[in-house]
Amino acid sequence: MTAESETQNGSPFEIVTRHIVMERDLNAFGNLFGGIMLAWLDEASALYVMDKIGFADFVTVSLDNVNFRTPARRGDAVVLYSRIQKVGRSSITIQSRALVHEPVTGKKEEIIDCRITFVCLKDGKPFAYFETPAYRRWTERQQSSGQ
Ligand SMILES: CC(C)(COP(=O)(O)OP(=O)(O)OC[C@H]1O[C@@H](n2cnc3c(N)ncnc32)[C@H](O)[C@@H]1OP(=O)(O)O)[C@@H](O)C(=O)NCCC(=O)NCCS
Repeated sequence: MTAESETQNGSPFEIVTRHIVMERDLNAFGNLFGGIMLAWLDEASALYVMDKIGFADFVTVSLDNVNFRTPARRGDAVVLYSRIQKVGRSSITIQSRALVHEPVTGKKEEIIDCRITFVCLKDGKPFAYFETPAYRRWTERQQSSGQ
């Protein structure tokens, strides 16, 4: 994996956010509390989606494959990566991963690799944003600006 991105199945992951594990983030055993990790993932994934679709009125509908594989400890750097996995009519599914990065050795260990689905809303109801001309125009603009 490179410092800024990695490739899996041909799709690039992008670094979205980074955190240093602080005392306030720990559980009773001195590891990163799972609820904090999930909040970081949900937030990073939402930021990534906002950046990629040009629309911000959406909600998290599901998290899949939530398995905590490696503990993070106080002082560790946790780096969150996302990529788009699937775009539906109103929904978009993101694959998000969190890794502990060891700054001195460069060693990286995976904490979690999960899928998060968001649903676009209009007036509080699912909205097929990905079928709108607005989304098509947004995608074309992104492509022409090389993003
Ligand atoms: C998200 C919400 C608006 C979906 O309403 P709904 O009536 O179930 O929606 P629909 O059945 O019409 O499905 C809408 C889309 O969501 C997708 N979807 C619904 N439930 C899903 C689930 N559990 N997992 C993945 N996708 C799901 C559908 O596949 C559909 O996708 P598409 O439009 O791309 O084909 C509604 O469940 C809700 O408001 N939930 C609360 C969300 C929230 O508050 N999140 C914050 C965390 S508490």
